[in-house]
Amino acid sequence: MQTTSKHGTQNRDDYYATVIDSVGDGVIVVSSDGIITLCNPAAQQITGFSQRQALGTEFAKLFSLEATLIEMLDKTMQTGITISDNEDVVVRATGRVTPVAVTCYPLVEDNGENIGAILTLKDITYIRELEAAVRQADRLSTLGTLAAGLAHEVKNPLGGIKGAAQLLEREFTPDSGMLEYTRVVIRETERIDHIIRELLDLASPRVLKLAPVNLHKVLGDILLLQKEAVASQDIAFIQNLDPSIPDIFADEEMLTRLFLNLIRNSIDAMGSDGRLTVSSRVLSDYRMTQNQKNSRMVAIEIADDGPGIPQEDLESIWTPFFSTKSTGTGLGLTICHKIVSEHRGMIKAESDPGHGTKFTVLLPLVR
Ligand SMILES: Nc1ncnc2c1ncn2[C@@H]1O[C@H](COP(=O)(O)OP(=O)(O)O)[C@@H](O)[C@H]1O
Ligand SMILES: [Mg+2]
Repeated sequence: MQTTSKHGTQNRDDYYATVIDSVGDGVIVVSSDGIITLCNPAAQQITGFSQRQALGTEFAKLFSLEATLIEMLDKTMQTGITISDNEDVVVRATGRVTPVAVTCYPLVEDNGENIGAILTLKDITYIRELEAAVRQADRLSTLGTLAAGLAHEVKNPLGGIKGAAQLLEREFTPDSGMLEYTRVVIRETERIDHIIRELLDLASPRVLKLAPVNLHKVLGDILLLQKEAVASQDIAFIQNLDPSIPDIFADEEMLTRLFLNLIRNSIDAMGSDGRLTVSSRVLSDYRMTQNQKNSRMVAIEIADDGPGIPQEDLESIWTPFFSTKSTGTGLGLTICHKIVSEHRGMIKAESDPGHGTKFTVLLPLVR
């Protein structure tokens, strides 16, 4: 790092430079005439501007798109007071938006003269992600409780309706036009029953039956069956599995449901033709949260080249009953999310609308 400061000995400059470079938050110092005199590595990371671009450049020019930052700086320069903004965004040169908390401090000499300002930028991406996860968990648990109550209430009368329809069916001769109606009643009650079973499954606590599971066998079995099921469609199945992955400690039945749900969704999305890629690999240094120590995880990816998921739907897909299909229950991904959480893993969806969707499941590799 360089500073344009000519004060002090070189050693002392070096020492201060190292201190500021080591601060995890972005630090940008601006002189009273608006020129950037210091920009530490964290600030370069957040803003996307290199030290070379930043040093000696006019702040207002470099950050011409960041009206809030310029305004804060102006205010601090004029009034000499510290200004904070806990909720702002910085758009990087690459177009990536980083949520930041910004504080602007006046830079005052011993004699009280105002010689510029210091901006600190704290990257709060991680906090925002955590908040989103908590919101989602909240929503799921409230809905889950409600749904379980409702499901119990509906199950008995539903059994009655189906039973009565079956009795009625026997009353009609095979050529009776009425048979069609009783069949509709029976079919639709079965559909409701299916939704209710999924719902109860979602809402009721259960104990995982943990045992060593060979992930590739689970995936292979599902793919084999699905290949047959969609033999009439032109779907290519590609497996990209890392053979070195050891057994993981998990509930095999649950994992089967998880991957079956994801693969079925991809097949539904692709329709008559497409390409489904299932891959696996080991992440040796994955950190789930900032406070946890690094752990080994297995990443399983299910990718398709279907129509993708619109950006505005990406957060909703995990919500119970969110479905864009006429016959969908909208519970599949909620169940997937639950199964992954119960295994202390993570699941995420990425989509490039028009080009496809990729679901990534991370599961801990502990034995
Ligand atoms: N691979 C995918 N490609 C496109 N959209 C998807 C994909 N997977 C899930 N979705 C979207 O997420 C919604 C919710 O999925 P899910 O919870 O499994 O319910 P369902 O399959 O019953 O609709 C789907 O209706 C669909 O809109
Ligand atoms: Mg589904």
